[in-house]
This record gives sequence, structure tokens and C-alpha cells, in this order.
Amino acid sequence: MASFLARSVLCGASQAPRLAFPKAVSSSPIFPRSLARGQASISRRFLASSSTPSEQPRLRLGSEAPNFQAKTTQGDIDFHQWLGGSWAILFSHPADFTPVCTTELGAFARLAPEFARRNVKMIGLSANDLSSHEKWIADINEICSADLQFPIIADADRRVAFLYDMVDAQDLTNIDQKGIAFTIRSVFIIDPAKKIRLTMMYPASTGRNTAEVLRVIDSLQTVDKKGITTPVDWHIGDDVIVPPTVSTEDAKKKLGSVREVKPYLRYTRI
Ligand code: BEZ
Repeated sequence: MASFLARSVLCGASQAPRLAFPKAVSSSPIFPRSLARGQASISRRFLASSSTPSEQPRLRLGSEAPNFQAKTTQGDIDFHQWLGGSWAILFSHPADFTPVCTTELGAFARLAPEFARRNVKMIGLSANDLSSHEKWIADINEICSADLQFPIIADADRRVAFLYDMVDAQDLTNIDQKGIAFTIRSVFIIDPAKKIRLTMMYPASTGRNTAEVLRVIDSLQTVDKKGITTPVDWHIGDDVIVPPTVSTEDAKKKLGSVREVKPYLRYTRI
């Protein structure tokens, strides 16, 4: 029991109480050594950031998620085919067998039923090859009491990472021994029309908040269904906002009662 609770905390299950710190995770063949030695030089940084700018599309909210083919832990995929007509999250990690990434993937794996309930497919990406991913998944499942079932893209050459601009322009430590930038912690929420609806970019140092990813999906899906907007810190069940483009009269017809705080700030219940 104690060890189960400890694992829950490690891997982001917020409902579990805090207990012990984890045993050390296996080390990456490249990352910890390069960090410890502080090896990343300016020339590596230049190499990492300047070699592929023309390949990087400008990805904005509303852009089509670029297609790619890749090897994943669940076989080769064509990304657009894999998406089908589903919502999806594509989230990247700097490297296998690194501590923060391990806690993140464990937490996402444990939340898989929540994503499935929202019709959201999950796909991870990490800058290592398939055999490394497979061994790492075994560690993640052990440490986090998880059963990680979604595919993880093998992006050792950062092809997909550069396509989605999942790289760091500043952090000199965030480069591997070949001088290629590690991927940062990006999240792309993609809708059934394959449009990018949200991006998050976190530095390698800072693990993401899984609850926030789910909260944004709830907001986007509610916005699409009801034609409303959602206020700060909104969660399912809270009042929503009537957008400025909708008259109070129309909002009342469509949504019922409207509570007007100011003419430009009107709440309704859905
Ligand atoms: C980590 O997962 O702990 C990590 C990975 C790359 C850079 C820094 C931290």
C-alpha cells in the first residue's frame, strides 16, 4: 500500500497523499553525463538551432497539424491517418530515462481513461529509438504503477521535433552529445479537423500539469459544442461566458438565463 501511494505521488496522481521519494530511475546514456559535464558549447548550440529553420513551418493556433510518418512503440504511423477523426494530444519529451519525463509519462498513462472519455487519442514523442522507448516504458509502468498503452514516437533524429518546433532556443544545457537540441516539453491539442487548437511549451526543467491539459480539452470541446467561452480557471459545471459577438437576446433564446455583470461580461449556465 505504501509503495503504491508513493508511486501515485511520483507520477502525478493529485488525489494520493505524499509519501516517499522514488528510487533513482535508470540513467540516460547521454543526457545526465552531458548535463553534469556542462558540455554544451556555443558551436553545438549553433548547430542545433540553425540546421533546419527552413523545415520548420510556422505553427499557429488554427494551423493544420503537419503530417509525418514515424516509427512508434505501436508500429509505423502516418500521423494524419493515425489521427482519424479524433481529438488528439501530441506531447514531447527531451529524452528517455530522465526523471521529469518519467513522472510525466506515468501521469499521462494513468490518466488515459480520462482522455479516452473525451475521445482524445494520446501520442508521446521522445528523442530516442524504439528499443530505448520499450525499456523505458517498462520502467515507467513499474515506477508509476501504470500501464502505458499509447504510442511513443521514436524521434532520435528530432525530425518530428523540428517539424513541430519542439526545440529550445536558449538553454545551452539542452543539447545532446551529437550537438542536436533535445526536444522541450511541448503539448499540441489537435481537433478532429486536424487543426492545432492549443500549444503549450515547457522547458526541460519543469514538468507539465496533466489536469490543465484535461481542463483545456474540456473547455475547447464545450466551446465548440455550445458557442460560449470559458472564464479563468473554469471547470466543467462552472458558469460560462456569453461571447461579445452574441447578443443577450440571442443568448437567452439559445442558452436560457443570462447574468449580466457588465454589458461586456455576461455569464450563463449550460
Ligand atoms: C528530466 O526529465 O528530468 C529532464 C530531461 C531533460 C533535461 C532536463 C530534465
